Amino acid sequence: MSSQELIAAVDRLPSNEGRASRVHALIEATGLLDSLDIVVPRAARADEIAKYHDRGFVDHLLGRVKYASEDEEYEMDRQYSIVHDCPYFDGLKDYVELVAGASLAAANHVLDAADGEQRVGINWTGGRHHARRARCSGFCYINDVVLTIQQLRTRWRRVLYVDLDVHHGDGVEQAFARSSDVLCASIHRFGKDVFPQTGSASQIGSGAGAGFTINVPTRSGLSDGAFLELFEGVIVPTIKSFRPEAIVVVCGTDGLARDPHAMWNLSLGALDKAVSRLLNAGLPTVLLGGGGYNHADTARCWSLLTAAAIGLRERLSWRNVPDHEYYAEYAQDATPEFFFEPSLFVKDLNTKEQIEKTVAFFERIAAQRRS
Ligand code: FE2
Repeated sequence: MSSQELIAAVDRLPSNEGRASRVHALIEATGLLDSLDIVVPRAARADEIAKYHDRGFVDHLLGRVKYASEDEEYEMDRQYSIVHDCPYFDGLKDYVELVAGASLAAANHVLDAADGEQRVGINWTGGRHHARRARCSGFCYINDVVLTIQQLRTRWRRVLYVDLDVHHGDGVEQAFARSSDVLCASIHRFGKDVFPQTGSASQIGSGAGAGFTINVPTRSGLSDGAFLELFEGVIVPTIKSFRPEAIVVVCGTDGLARDPHAMWNLSLGALDKAVSRLLNAGLPTVLLGGGGYNHADTARCWSLLTAAAIGLRERLSWRNVPDHEYYAEYAQDATPEFFFEPSLFVKDLNTKEQIEKTVAFFERIAAQRRS
């Protein structure tokens, strides 16, 4: 399998048709590819995917089960939630095998580092954080995030998982809720009308994992300042208190100001600063994609984060979007700028008092973790 086959397969994902091509084309246009080690992904095998997922579910997804009738097959589609927001599509088998394979390749690249050497693996086609052990959910068919964390844990015991997508990382949290070795920290919009309706601050993990799940719920309109205050106040301190040996980040861009979900009001700077802060911890790190439905802004964001991962963030000019195959999609103005401002018309409903309360709450949880 080649990277081109991966991109072509992921371009068919119904929730994000054509996104993988746009992300890849912009990263290429910025000239970053020459500075990256390109790891050619291979299709993950069913048994590799089944290290987390239910084997029957995997075999069904990969079309390995022969059913007596279409009705019977349809019944199993329903059981595994291959309906509604996760419909069957042509190329699903390749998509699943390649996305899982690419995340495992990113994890393996990081695993091969010498002791103390910081390697960063990237799979922008991954980050499917909603998928469950035996069920698709929220545009996510398999949970490559869980597979990545499991793979890193073959070498490192404590893994910090940080989820910056605007939606709660429920699938990953469920997989590790009872573990004190994987700390899952998700900052997200939370509310009755917001998918997946979970992720309140009181969900802190269970059993031995109590205190090792961090959910930072937010209201709509979250600004860069409020996002970074929560990130610095709640998530950054876990690097000291939890002492992770590796970090996995889901960098969903659906919290950016121009995302059609219109839930947060972030500029590129918020995700750039947050991810750079995690990279500065100097630990082996895997960066994965996630949601993001403004494809041009997703490509902007992940290009910037790619540069941050290889220390070229400051060395390149980010003034204008470089000319490339999809340039016309950026060129509403004569010369499309790389950065954009958040909306002036969106009110940040996250108050200073609420943010301070949230930070204080998680300081108490961290103290309980230590005791
Ligand atoms: Fe999302």
